[in-house]
Amino acid sequence: MLICPLCGKSLIIDGKSYICENRHCFDLARQGYVNLLPVQNKHSLHPGDTKEMLTARRRFLETGKYSPICKEVKETAKMFCKTENPKILDVGCGEGYYTRALADSFENSHTIGIDIAKDGVKMACSRGKDISWIVATASLLPVENSSVDIVTAMFSLFMDGEYSRVLKKGGVAIEVNAATEHLIEMKEIIYDEVFPQNKKPVEHDEKLFKRVYSEKHSFKFYVNNEELKDLLYMTPHLNRIKEENKSRLLKFEELELTAAFWVSADMRL
Ligand SMILES: C[S@@+](CC[C@H](N)C(=O)[O-])C[C@H]1O[C@@H](n2cnc3c(N)ncnc32)[C@H](O)[C@@H]1O
Repeated sequence: MLICPLCGKSLIIDGKSYICENRHCFDLARQGYVNLLPVQNKHSLHPGDTKEMLTARRRFLETGKYSPICKEVKETAKMFCKTENPKILDVGCGEGYYTRALADSFENSHTIGIDIAKDGVKMACSRGKDISWIVATASLLPVENSSVDIVTAMFSLFMDGEYSRVLKKGGVAIEVNAATEHLIEMKEIIYDEVFPQNKKPVEHDEKLFKRVYSEKHSFKFYVNNEELKDLLYMTPHLNRIKEENKSRLLKFEELELTAAFWVSADMRL
């Protein structure tokens, strides 16, 4: 399923390296991931989420507070996947929480988790060696054409061209995005003003995809002070807010929050 990011030829595993017929060679790291992000596609020294964000996200997701999101995405994958042993690609997998859950939803899946943040992929390796963990960019997926049954973008970016290229005909792209009310109680504390928004799932190229499902979900959950801090640190809000507003939030010993999200599925035509 994997292709060389330099020449596009198939990669085969040879001992502890992936190698293509043009002898481009990519070594497996000690943790078990492979870096398929060529330097020319790396637009900063440490692209993607920071180690601090990833560590906070790992701790928060491990509390199970977002398990209803996980359940919805797993059910959507089961609903639209036509095979019991799918090839799954989770793009922007971060530290791998949803990737692991998706792989576990099927008896016998072949799952790949891709992220541009090397620290995320390194961390994700601890979620299992049965998943292929890859450092790569969503804009140049090192994955063969028409080879994948399910592509997921969990709170991550969606690339019409690349996702449609790697999906089989009839395969499904599943996307989860925050809805308007997501963490609204937290936003009201950390921002001086919360502007009204109406977040909806983005429509994709109708020559490539047909929307087969789009549903908004929400639930309430409680966080303690440490979980609240992790929640703040795992999101981009942290870099946008004033220090005094951050302190105001972190004074809460407990807070009830709303999780609101859209799950959409688009079938590859
Ligand atoms: C909001 S996080 C979501 C992570 C994970 N899906 C989750 O929900 O826990 C978005 C992820 O996309 C990754 N990312 C950003 N740009 C990317 C790109 N061009 N290619 C691949 N991953 C990217 C970030 O490093 C980050 O891990």
